Amino acid sequence: MPDKYKPAVVLKRRELTDHISEITLGLADDSPLPASRAGAHVELRFGGNDGRFLRHYSLIGPLDLTSTHEPFWRIAVQRENRRRGSDYIHRHFRAGTNVLISPALSPFRLTSDDGPALLIAGGIGITAILPMLRSCVMRRRDVHMLYVGRSREAMAYVEEAEALGGDAVTVHDATALGGRPDLDALLAQQPTNTTAYVCGPPALIDGTRQAAQRLGWAPERVRHEIFNAAHKAEDHAVTVQTRSGTQIPVSPGHTLLEALEAAGAETFSDCRRGECGLCITPVSSVDTDIDHRDRFLTPDQKRSNRQIALCCSRPRSGSIALDI
Ligand code: FES
Repeated sequence: MPDKYKPAVVLKRRELTDHISEITLGLADDSPLPASRAGAHVELRFGGNDGRFLRHYSLIGPLDLTSTHEPFWRIAVQRENRRRGSDYIHRHFRAGTNVLISPALSPFRLTSDDGPALLIAGGIGITAILPMLRSCVMRRRDVHMLYVGRSREAMAYVEEAEALGGDAVTVHDATALGGRPDLDALLAQQPTNTTAYVCGPPALIDGTRQAAQRLGWAPERVRHEIFNAAHKAEDHAVTVQTRSGTQIPVSPGHTLLEALEAAGAETFSDCRRGECGLCITPVSSVDTDIDHRDRFLTPDQKRSNRQIALCCSRPRSGSIALDI
């Protein structure tokens, strides 16, 4: 196991909604965990001694303005379909469960210029956006936040967000309000030089980027964090074949990258969420179309099916042969 991971333990678990649990983590040796930047995440390895699951979770930080530094890390996990890492967490995590944690990673962060911030959270994406709201409020930064969810009861940390941001927070309950928020109108209302920070499902991120493009925003004024790019409910078991002829089964709850790593194949990865391109691997042949879920390859490259991002993309079924 790479030594960037440290032994940690679940200190506490709290149910936030029917499908979302809050997990508090501390280091196994009782030493305090450092404060993390707003928007940072942790890589969590769990599922037995070999840490067979690896997942990224945002570090939520203190939930109000009065708490100072907390010596532990708080994450929230939404239960996805069966056989996935989140299902394992919901079924097995309790106080005392052993896990491995990476240092805090901060590719998604607030700009340092203190310009106006538009925060957009979709569903469990609130876990990255809530600490940004807290940071903006503490620094008296001009901020507005939109929190979109299926229904208010299914949304975690609604009260905390409203208590932190007051009138600056708009909650969009899609069931009560019927449908999606008008992102064009929202972006058009923002002061010039606003930077938007979006965390949630790909449709919300794409919708925000497209609205920004229509309004002439520079692309760098929309920053985003993706959740769950690697897994879909309709995923099938597939088989990866390496150059040596080794056949490696990949179950629906695992990525090709995880399966190859477990089999001892030499792979490269960094972001593990389809953004950096480090895991892109040549495809020798594939039975079916590939469901490309990365944001690195161009549309033409995706159509050709000659490369694949192992950390998140997979063939729709059958077998894929890789030049690896
Ligand atoms: S590890 Fe970054 S795109 Fe796959």
